[in-house]
Amino acid sequence: MSDFDSKSQVQTSGRDSFASSFGVIAAAAGSAIGLGNIWKFPYITGMNGGSAFIIVYLVCIAVIGFPVMLSEFMIGRKAERNAIGSFKKLSPGTPWFLTGWMGFLAAFMILSFYGVVAGWSLNYVFQAMTGSLSGLNPQQMGDFFGGFITGTISPIIWQTIFMALTGYIVYAGIKNGIEKWSKILMPLLLLLIIVLDVRALTLPGAGAGVEFLFKPDFSALTASGVLVALGHAFFSLSLGMGTMITYGSYISKKENLGKVAMQVTIADTVIALLAGLAIFPAVFAFGIEPGAGPSLVFITIPNIFNMMPGGMIWSTLFFVLLSLAALTSAISILEVVVAYLVEEVKMSRHKGTIIATVSITLIGYLCSLSMGSTFDTLFFGKNFFDLMDWTSANVLLPLGGLFITLYVGWVWGPKTTLTELSNNGELSISYLGVLMFLCKFLAPLAIAIVFLNGIGILSF
Ligand code: PHE
Repeated sequence: MSDFDSKSQVQTSGRDSFASSFGVIAAAAGSAIGLGNIWKFPYITGMNGGSAFIIVYLVCIAVIGFPVMLSEFMIGRKAERNAIGSFKKLSPGTPWFLTGWMGFLAAFMILSFYGVVAGWSLNYVFQAMTGSLSGLNPQQMGDFFGGFITGTISPIIWQTIFMALTGYIVYAGIKNGIEKWSKILMPLLLLLIIVLDVRALTLPGAGAGVEFLFKPDFSALTASGVLVALGHAFFSLSLGMGTMITYGSYISKKENLGKVAMQVTIADTVIALLAGLAIFPAVFAFGIEPGAGPSLVFITIPNIFNMMPGGMIWSTLFFVLLSLAALTSAISILEVVVAYLVEEVKMSRHKGTIIATVSITLIGYLCSLSMGSTFDTLFFGKNFFDLMDWTSANVLLPLGGLFITLYVGWVWGPKTTLTELSNNGELSISYLGVLMFLCKFLAPLAIAIVFLNGIGILSF
């Protein structure tokens, strides 16, 4: 209780923190809800056959995603440090801090390509608003997207604008930057997605899209689809790289962490489903192939909007939604790096933010250039963009998640976990037994299987 005055329930360490319960939820849900929900989830669902894939994804979220998120929150809040510093403080002299380092590396890799895709989205807001996407036929829409992302200067400029916005928010700190902006942007995001859902669901022929999402057809599900679902659960909930450890370290000691983790998990899942409900009814109403892959939102979606009255407005709203979702996630990735630089390297927040933002943006340039012919070097058969994406999602996040659950399951065990989870005995926790079973056995085993498959040692 050294840093914490139990009577006034105020943190006295002088460390910046979230000021309200709504701020905690908005920031953590803001991190979870991102390109993963609106760009990746619909296209991997489309590629893996729809509803049956969604059912498996929901199981992964519940039995693996939730315990990993709760573990990250507990570790961060107990230590009140960044991802690397947390392990150093809680288990000094042991190699556990390497888990934090892996997260640090994953943050660099993810944000470098994430910023590129978010830059594409910003450009599409501009293009949709100025009407340049209207009137293009499907072929021209595909050529437009291909021409843009393989270009040299334009995608880099949009990526730089996006990264500057991300840096601007993180620069202002937790309360006055991350929390303040999440509280504004997240309700806006919810409103936008509901408007888009109402539009899509009232299209004639929308029912086929709803059926595709909710009527289970297990014959369409493959074993590799199951593993894609598990990997995506990590990415979508921002797990395995210390984002939620870092955010957890800013959560008050009186907050009910189980409740927070539950609310964030549900919010992330609901928004992914709402994104699917905005996209697939429109895809089916216009007779378009649902398995278009990564270009689904950049080619298929603007094509669909072009066939509707007022298409320009709907396209603009959609890409504003995608950009906002990306922004509240990008700040949480940048914060992993900045918190480390501030607390372990003792830089000022301003200097740390500038150094982190500039260096990640520069690595991002390589990702962007690798889409075209300027820098199309292949590493292990992948261009630089795909290398960053593949290594972080298939190697670093699952490994990070594995170590985090093992840490809580085996190093902490039920006693320490209960103390942290119950706020030192103030809350009664009925699910401790289930949580310990998940952290000790089920989650690590399932994650190990995804990991071995991801790196190609086990193949399904
Ligand atoms: N969860 C974010 C999304 O769905 C991405 C992310 C991954 C953010 C890892 C933080 C850490 O877009």
